[in-house]
Parts: sequence; C-alpha cells; structure tokens
Amino acid sequence: MATLDIDKVRTSFPALKSGYIYGDNAGGSQAVQGVIDRITDYLSNTNVQLGADYSIGVQSNQRVAEGAASAAALFNAGSVDEVGFGPSSTMLFENLARALENDIQAGDEFIITEEHEANNGPWKRLAARRGAVLKYWRPTPTSSENPYSVGYKIDELLPLVTSKTRIAAISACSNILGSIVPVKEVVKALRNRAKELGARKVEVSVDCVAYAPHRRIDVRGWDIDFCVFALYKIYGAHNAAFYIRSSTLQSSLTSIAHHFLKVDSKPYKVQPGGPGYELVYGATGVLPYLQSLTPANDLEASFNAIALHEQTLVKSLLTFLTDAKQVERGVRVVGQSKVELSRVPTISFVVVGQNAIKSKDIVGIFDNKGGIGIRYGHFYAYTLIDNLSPKLDVDDGVVRISFVHYNTVGEVERVIDILKEILA
Ligand SMILES: Cc1ncc(COP(=O)(O)O)c(C=O)c1O
Repeated sequence: MATLDIDKVRTSFPALKSGYIYGDNAGGSQAVQGVIDRITDYLSNTNVQLGADYSIGVQSNQRVAEGAASAAALFNAGSVDEVGFGPSSTMLFENLARALENDIQAGDEFIITEEHEANNGPWKRLAARRGAVLKYWRPTPTSSENPYSVGYKIDELLPLVTSKTRIAAISACSNILGSIVPVKEVVKALRNRAKELGARKVEVSVDCVAYAPHRRIDVRGWDIDFCVFALYKIYGAHNAAFYIRSSTLQSSLTSIAHHFLKVDSKPYKVQPGGPGYELVYGATGVLPYLQSLTPANDLEASFNAIALHEQTLVKSLLTFLTDAKQVERGVRVVGQSKVELSRVPTISFVVVGQNAIKSKDIVGIFDNKGGIGIRYGHFYAYTLIDNLSPKLDVDDGVVRISFVHYNTVGEVERVIDILKEILA
C-alpha cells in the first residue's frame, strides 16, 4: 500500500510553513495551494456573472461547471446533476429540509443522531412544522470502565425503525467522538428492516463534514439520498457541497428557487441564489491535490494512505491518554479509545474526579504556550455532550485535539509533552 510523503504533503499548504501546529482541524483545515490559486485566478480573470455568452462569461460558466464535476467525484455521485454548492453545510441541510416539506406527512417518523446540530436542527424543525415524530439513535458506552466511551450500535438503531420511518439522518463520523459509522452497513440494515415492516419511503441523510477529510465518500455504494460536506474541512475555502440522489431530487423535493426557473430535475431546486462562484471554482483544487497523494493518482489509494498515516497520529495520542497513569489522574476519552481504522484523529477528552481540570483551563495553558491551536467546548454537538452521563458542563464541554494527514508524529509528541506538564 502506498504511503504519504509528509514533507511533500506539507509543501502544498502555505500556512504550514510557519511551523505553527494546527490541532483544530475538525474545526477547519488549512487550504491547499491549488485552491488558493484558483480563487485568486477566478477573481482576477473571470469574475463576471454566470450565464452570459460573451467570452469571459463562457469561461466563467465553464469554471463553475468544473466545480460540480469535482464535487461529483468527491461524493462518487453518478452525475453532476446530483450535486450543488452553498455557503455552509448548516444552510444546505436547512434548504434540503424546506424543499422536502411537501412530501412529509403527519405521523411520519424521523430517526436522528445527536451529533452536530447542522444535521439535527433542520429535521427537528421540519418535524415540528409537519407533525412528524422524532426518534433518537443515541451513542452508548462501549466500555464498562469509561462512561464517556460512547459509540453507535446498529442493534440500538433497528428497534427504532417502524412502518412510519420516513427519514434517517446520521453522521458518517462524529466531530466529537471521532468514530466512523459504517454507513453502508447501517443503511442496508435500516432499509431491510423498513422494507420488512412496509415503510412507504425512507430517505437517508448523511453528514459527511467530519468524515470527508479522512475517508472516501461513496454515496452510491452507501445507497443514500442526501449527503453534505464542507470544503473548509477538506483543504478548501468556506463553502459546502451537497449530493441529492437524482430520483429523490425529482420525486420528493419541491423547488425553493425562483418560481420561473425551470429546475425540476436539477440541483438548483435546493440552491436558491448563486453559490459563490470563486469558491466553487476554488473547490476544483481539492480533488487533484488528493489524487496526487499517491502515484496511482487515484482517490481510493490516496484515502487509504491518509488513513494509514492518521493511524500513527491516533495511536500516539490515544496511547498516552488511556495510559493507566492518566486514567488514574482522571483523564477520560469521550468516544472510543481503541486504535482502530474506524477512528479518525479527532480526539476528545475530559479530566474529571478529585483533581478535575476544566477543559477551558487545559486549552488556556496551550494558548499561553503559543505556537499551537486546540480548542474546548461542545463544538455544536450540544445535545451529544449534554446527554453524557455523568453530566458534564456542556459549555466547558471537552478538550478536542484534531489532526489530519498533514500533521506529523512530532507535532503529536509536542501536544503530549504539554499534556504531561498539565497532568503531572
Ligand atoms: C460534523 C459537522 N457537521 C456540520 C458542521 C457544520 O458545517 P458548516 O460550518 O459548513 O455549516 C460541522 C462544523 O463543524 C461539523 O463538524
């Protein structure tokens, strides 16, 4: 299996030249040079309104169309007519829920996970507007030794499915727990159960925002209807992309675009207004960067190499945090603490017990040292943190250290050295 050349990887990110340790990548990653160049180029040379027939307009149309092709490849979608862009994942999920409104009946059931509010809130509000019923697939402890070792279990999902299940909204990876949900397996089990019970129509929405930097998305292989990721978490700029299965786009959604636009089978149906052209063109810089990571120039091989490198980062930090000495000190990983391929290097923890330390204070010590960026809080997965038991102060939340493939083992060791001082 191909491995990453980390020195080469790092030269693609201007921000990394300073040596600053970026440890808040689940919040947002650094932008790759190809994205920065494209945005500058777009604004410098083709910054005109889309849809025109004059020469620069044609070039601009072409560039924005490349954005859709690029996003389709990242989703592994079947067609560019299944993808679109918007300012943020949060906005895209809300638009989607609004466009679905006419196809939701009173009594329909939505199964949602308690993750980032972006893929929760729109479904909660839609349920309230239409009289649908909410059911929660909650993460539960995976180890008797640590009550915060929570993860999702398919066995706990299936009893929630009934003949009325209409929507399932899950996250492919938690932005707190760092664990990957086996989407293909989950969706297959869910659809089989719904079919056995005679459900009318089940559509599955997957939040891939915390997943996309680490693993390959496969909307077709997963058999899902909606998917969203944010470019700023996968080495791009601040915009987001969505996928909607073609048949679902046509049969379940009502356009929320201007009434005179003929958009019935097009993603513009859920894309009111322009998507930020320079950012869409900028997004075309992500795919070639990812493909270039391995000699095969293949996305699958690149993500395998990313996963392999990330495992070394996960291993160093988790081994330290779960060491008997740290556990005795009160350190509790929030999420699964095993070093497995089903885990990404987004690692959250709290320090509890007699000598508890607030997450805010731990991060404050890092901030005072300088040269390194990590964060604390609930990271908008408010309900997930709020429901942990024993209860945590939801605003103080967890300390989250989140790496991606451009981070080095040396950087993780620097983090561990600071943690050693704090926990001594
Ligand atoms: C898992 C997850 N979903 C959704 C979002 C929201 O993304 P956006 O900022 O694009 O709305 C985030 C942002 O942190 C996230 O981590």
